[in-house]
Amino acid sequence: MKPISVVLLGLGTVGQGVYESLFSHQQKLQEVLGAPVEIAGILVKNKAKQRDVSRSILVTTDIDELLALPQIDVVFEAIVGIEPAYTYIRKFLTKGCHIITANKELLAHKGSELTKYAQEQRRYLTFEAAVAGGIPLLRTLIQLLQVNGIVKIEASLNGTSNYILSKMRKEQAKFQDVLVEAQALGYAEADPSNDILGTDSFYKLMVLSDLIYHQQPKWNDVEKTGITNVTVPHIQLGEKLGLRLKLLASLTSSHDGIHAEVKPVFVSSDHSLYHVEGVDNGIAIHTDLVGTIHLQGPGAGAKATASAMIEDLVYIRQIKDTIAQENVRASQHHVEPTADDLSTWVAVTEETVPEAFHKERLRQYQINLIKREKLNEMEGFLLQGREYDILLFLQSLKLGLLTIYPVSPTGLPPYEKTLTHTLAKSIIN
Ligand code: HSE
Repeated sequence: MKPISVVLLGLGTVGQGVYESLFSHQQKLQEVLGAPVEIAGILVKNKAKQRDVSRSILVTTDIDELLALPQIDVVFEAIVGIEPAYTYIRKFLTKGCHIITANKELLAHKGSELTKYAQEQRRYLTFEAAVAGGIPLLRTLIQLLQVNGIVKIEASLNGTSNYILSKMRKEQAKFQDVLVEAQALGYAEADPSNDILGTDSFYKLMVLSDLIYHQQPKWNDVEKTGITNVTVPHIQLGEKLGLRLKLLASLTSSHDGIHAEVKPVFVSSDHSLYHVEGVDNGIAIHTDLVGTIHLQGPGAGAKATASAMIEDLVYIRQIKDTIAQENVRASQHHVEPTADDLSTWVAVTEETVPEAFHKERLRQYQINLIKREKLNEMEGFLLQGREYDILLFLQSLKLGLLTIYPVSPTGLPPYEKTLTHTLAKSIIN
């Protein structure tokens, strides 16, 4: 059978991963696809660089040489950033090629437009690898949850950040050292500030928003806080309080519109993300029919990304005659925020706080002190109450250095639920 001819744009971590996987899984691919996959050309930045690439493959820095190849079925796009990836993708779509990309920055900015153009050209633009690495998240949303409406997504979507936070907790490792390690392992972005400032998670969230709600929230309205201010003692105090810190990305829709945020949040052991460790990503998909579905798996690295891109190739080949509009059904059941909701917070102080947390004072602000832990000169407090009251109370302490983190309300341990109930009753009375 006629080989499937592909080209690779980029031979960095992702491109190299795809290249190697196409060889290592050649046999399996041929069995599944019914034809061999042949790499016709590779676009590189520097042609002089020594590479272990078969001589039969055209390796070039000139995109026009690849565009001039007579028959290209599929393009694996593995370039970083919006340009020149955007221009190249459009050109290959015009030429009649299907596109497989892992480029979340490009998709967050231009995903809808490119998807529309691909549909006009009756070609596929697939991007399973762009969100949650090797986890088949998008396909799960698109194909497996066609009747379920998506109410909310809560996820840890950046492998690098999760790797850093896990190592800081387990080994008291220094932030900067673990970041360097994550870069060496091929987890981090070319510009790693995208990982640690929450930008990479933000892009992924915008791709999910396009897919689920067919629109994005206004980017300026999205809270985006990274993990650069997190310290080992903050994580350790959280651990003593029974919590783990995650860079949480969440997406919901209310009658006001779509709400998205990326920020460090503590989760309890009842939360599915508590056990998502190292480079893994984890996603909780809250739906209106089946309930909550949890997915977990490798979120970054050459193999995880290559796996998702190669599964995309199989997908494109298997359904090549039915170019369908890929839509996920967003739920009509919006999640409405309620101003009176009690929330749980961890406050970390750099000094001991003797009287300020006396019962009287806490009662005055209608706040429950669930637990308090010390670490050297620092203290960690697990507090529950109305957000506004907690912030006022903490402000009233006039402490030099104070850091506060929200605790995810999903999966609070039973004792906290009981306290929430008790507190709610005491407020009503
Ligand atoms: N830098 C990204 C991460 C790569 O750490 O998750 C995968 O998108």
